[in-house]
Amino acid sequence: MGTRGVVRGQAPDALQNRGATGVAAPPREHEGNMGHEVHINIDGQDLSLPVVEGSEHEKALDIGKLRAQTGYITLDPGYVNTGACQSSICFIDGEKGILRYRGYPIEEIADQACFLETAYLLLYGELPTQSQLDGFRVSVKERAEVPSALGKLCEAVSSDAHPMSVLASMVNALSSYGRDWRKPTVEEQREKAIRDLLGKLPTVAAMAFRRSRGLDPIAPRADLPYAANFLNMMFGEVNLKVAEALDKILILHADHEQNCSTSTVRIVGSSEANLYASIAAGICALWGPLHGGANQRVIEMLETIHNSGDGPDPFVDKVKDKTSGVRLMGFGHRVYKNFDPRAKILKKACDEVLATLGIEDPLLDIAKSLEKTALEDEYFISRQLYPNVDFYSGIIYRAIGIPTNMFTVMFALGRLPGWMAHWRELHEDPARRIGRPRQIYTGPTQRKMTPIGQR
Ligand code: ACO
Repeated sequence: MGTRGVVRGQAPDALQNRGATGVAAPPREHEGNMGHEVHINIDGQDLSLPVVEGSEHEKALDIGKLRAQTGYITLDPGYVNTGACQSSICFIDGEKGILRYRGYPIEEIADQACFLETAYLLLYGELPTQSQLDGFRVSVKERAEVPSALGKLCEAVSSDAHPMSVLASMVNALSSYGRDWRKPTVEEQREKAIRDLLGKLPTVAAMAFRRSRGLDPIAPRADLPYAANFLNMMFGEVNLKVAEALDKILILHADHEQNCSTSTVRIVGSSEANLYASIAAGICALWGPLHGGANQRVIEMLETIHNSGDGPDPFVDKVKDKTSGVRLMGFGHRVYKNFDPRAKILKKACDEVLATLGIEDPLLDIAKSLEKTALEDEYFISRQLYPNVDFYSGIIYRAIGIPTNMFTVMFALGRLPGWMAHWRELHEDPARRIGRPRQIYTGPTQRKMTPIGQR
């Protein structure tokens, strides 16, 4: 296990300086410390399991030899207790409501950095200098144009297709261009693909939106900041204050360690599938309502409450009735058990955006009253359910004119750097192996087939 430490990223200008083909091995940030061992007894056989400790002192049992030595595997539905990798990108303490990217608190990053700076930090491990950021920005923006033939793909799908399906298809299709960028095992090709997708994803997302409305795409503009360029490609105009708020939302979504979509990207990447295919898979995983799709469902829920005219209480009663199958969308999190620090920042940003635009949204009032009711209710208190990042983001998207079915696409734009940082980290780990869990089989034991006519 000591040899399976995480390899920290290498800044892109350092890559350029050495010809981008790789000379020195990237420095190691931290190797999971192998401290003591834990002894277990299985069927009378003593086994010592090494304890691996992370830089924030989280502990794991290394069960790498468990099956070979005992014949047992572990069973952990939902991977609630399973560490799938060692990673130096993102740290979360769900009990304390802490989220840090590469050691920096999310509150400080959201306050001081821009989205591309955050992307650089996640990808390469350090905050960029001004000249590094400028170089990064140029290399991303110069790849923002997408092949015009890709627009035909948008036209080919059904006009009421969900934008997430279009986004995943178009990202996958991007792998058919630029054949020399597709090998994830070649460092130079990895870096090109990363900048390429960071440049192109907003263009593809805006194109999908405009085609669904029968509108011509708008070309990317290199003179605009990242989020402003996206809004301009969506609407043909941009309010820079609103673009700043969107930039902050993207930062808040940029990474969240081993969540469902990131784990998907890592597992697909582990088969050495190219970056585009791995990210397309992540987009599909994000789409689900229990993950990124929750932001769309939050607004639909708030609209339902608003249209009912009954206020939030009857809805909360329905949520608490387990037979209803209704959940309070935007509430609860696998990891956060006290509060989601991103939700706190977003709640404030939501007030600011609505004030800037002079909008009064009755859904915001319903959201606030729903939050208050839930936070005082024993059902939610006892299960440690708090608003998550999706609870307020939809209200901001609505205010800036993003249609509801595009909300999860916005999440994907924000999460892209995190997905790619994990994909990159995976490929820089010399000890990586294909992701391949086992199972406990519960089907029939061996039986004899009868020919079809005799069944
Ligand atoms: N509303 C009502 N009850 C809930 C909710 C909710 N939103 N979330 C959890 N619970 C209840 C469960 O019914 C369960 O109750 P029980 O112990 O009486 O059976 C208990 O709380 C634990 O819930 P689990 O489903 O076991 O928690 P898990 O960690 O598996 O799920 C999840 C986390 C999927 C986020 C869940 O809280 C949920 O469905 N939330 C609503 C959807 C949502 O907002 N998703 C976005 C998550 S953040 C993100 O992906 C960016």
